[in-house]
Amino acid sequence: MKVTVVGAGAVGATCADNIARKELATELVLLDIKEGLAEGKAQDMMQTAALLGFDTKISGSTNDYTKTAGSDVVIITSGLPRKPGMTREELIGTNAGIVKGVAENILKYSPNAILIIISNPMDTMTYLALTATGLPKHKIIGMGGALDSARFRYQLSQHLGASPADLNAVVVGGHGDTTMIPLIRLATWNSVPVTSLLSNEQQKQIVADTMVGGATLTKLIGTSAWYAPGAAGAALVEAIVRDEKKLFTCCVKLDGEYGQKDICLGVPVTIGKNGWEKIIDIKLNADEQALFNKSADAVRNMNDVLKTL
Ligand code: 2OP
Repeated sequence: MKVTVVGAGAVGATCADNIARKELATELVLLDIKEGLAEGKAQDMMQTAALLGFDTKISGSTNDYTKTAGSDVVIITSGLPRKPGMTREELIGTNAGIVKGVAENILKYSPNAILIIISNPMDTMTYLALTATGLPKHKIIGMGGALDSARFRYQLSQHLGASPADLNAVVVGGHGDTTMIPLIRLATWNSVPVTSLLSNEQQKQIVADTMVGGATLTKLIGTSAWYAPGAAGAALVEAIVRDEKKLFTCCVKLDGEYGQKDICLGVPVTIGKNGWEKIIDIKLNADEQALFNKSADAVRNMNDVLKTL
């Protein structure tokens, strides 16, 4: 398997490092526009191979897309990360042009690749990658919900004193501080509904803290987070290359599912060798559906901004 990570910043490099350690690819290419950055980080990672015992062949490239030819999976992390106080949506003016160019260049040399989009605003960048490449919708996966669900499980584990791995919880809707929907009604601690273990106030706090999970870290660190985003990207690569049929919430093209069409938005999907393979209908209740529709409206407004760029 050949995997390319575009963008050798903190998120891309962390994603690549996770992919290499788990040997999810025989060949891993890291590409960036900054002279030498991808080559240097690739070599640094390769120098951990003797210590960590992986045989992934990692190489770096400064903006030479011929090196990415024949990639099976491509993760797009390029573009600016947000600064404290910024929303992900404010990045659209800079990142849309970058993501469009990257997607078109990748397509030139890897016409059958599955694309995983991490660049923000992720829902709109996913829609842009779909429209710019014309790839089949199953091959375009926005990573946001996988990350937000991991943050949701972290918040729950803190309140319950549970192992995060024992928590089953998903976030649907947009990957925005105000558009994501942590579905606490459906969350369980190894089949025990968390709503039976947490007060209403605790539930509200967990949902609120999950929604701003990214912004909280940006305020603390001074830039966007990278460990969890990088790991979430690698988890999707793993499900693809190992054909795991794992269920994640990812941003995918909706054609009527969940009452929405002509939009890319976070819903539960199975991930396997063909990309996202099935959308799972988890029967939102009326309040959840109303939040989902509101989220869709906000993302659609961002998608409309693309037409003005
Ligand atoms: C985050 O929420 C980068 O959007 C990503 O950290």
